[in-house]
Amino acid sequence: MTEAREMLRVEKVSSGYGHVGVLEGVSIHVMHGEVVTLIGSNGAGKSTLLKTVAGVLSPTGGSVVFDGRDISGITPEKAVEAGLALVPEGRRLFGSMSVGENLELGAYARRRSRSFSSEFAEDLEIVHELFPVLGERVDQSAATLSGGEQQMLAIARALMSRPRLLLLDEPSLGLAPKVISEIFAILDRLRSRGVTILLVEQDASVALRHADRGYVLRTGRVELEGTASELLANDDVRMIYLGSWKKSVSGT
Ligand SMILES: Nc1ncnc2c1ncn2[C@@H]1O[C@H](COP(=O)(O)OP(=O)(O)OP(=O)(O)O)[C@@H](O)[C@H]1O
Ligand SMILES: [Mg+2]
Repeated sequence: MTEAREMLRVEKVSSGYGHVGVLEGVSIHVMHGEVVTLIGSNGAGKSTLLKTVAGVLSPTGGSVVFDGRDISGITPEKAVEAGLALVPEGRRLFGSMSVGENLELGAYARRRSRSFSSEFAEDLEIVHELFPVLGERVDQSAATLSGGEQQMLAIARALMSRPRLLLLDEPSLGLAPKVISEIFAILDRLRSRGVTILLVEQDASVALRHADRGYVLRTGRVELEGTASELLANDDVRMIYLGSWKKSVSGT
């Protein structure tokens, strides 16, 4: 990292679903070029936090500042235009549409840009280089892709919006270890290209090995934060999150 500039600041954010409060005064930040991970058990509020940053949910308190601009309560469309892209848990592809059409939809927010067609061609090239399998399956419907291919398409679709901050929710969900390694190798390449990533992962071990820093969320609050190596060495993290990871892996 050449200069330390803040890309995202979530300040004392509360958020939830209707009357159900989930997040309570959560504060996190992400610097330009960083990979930051959120870890925590099921229901801790990780997806809720990403959805609140991406404009899918509006915070009921606190603020979300992106590149110096207060975007609290922004619509999801405006969030994409501002440079945020969410790869949601469970991928949410348009199953009956082809791989190519899903990628086109990813670029939709930028359609009014003057140099759109040349940028679109450039971005497709980058995406096909990162994910060669998608190039081979342009006309195949998304629903018929394997789980790993669907996750690759979900990430590729997000990249088509030229995000400055990629919000990734559980990219490893339901995938075999070999496919998880492939996905994380691609995230490492994105990171070396300077893409900033906020990554939610239940597999804390994988997440911390690929991140600069992390936050541990517990029942809607930040319980612990630190560099990836600090968290990997933390006794509570080891026992609660890394221990449970080992159990779940040996149990499958
Ligand atoms: N659409 C919804 N309506 C009401 N409550 C919800 C909704 N989505 C999530 N919740 C609740 O919000 C809390 C936090 O959920 P969230 O999805 O943010 O957890 P998470 O940390 O992402 O968990 P997981 O690891 O299982 O994905 C949970 O108690 C959940 O039941
Ligand atoms: Mg989740």
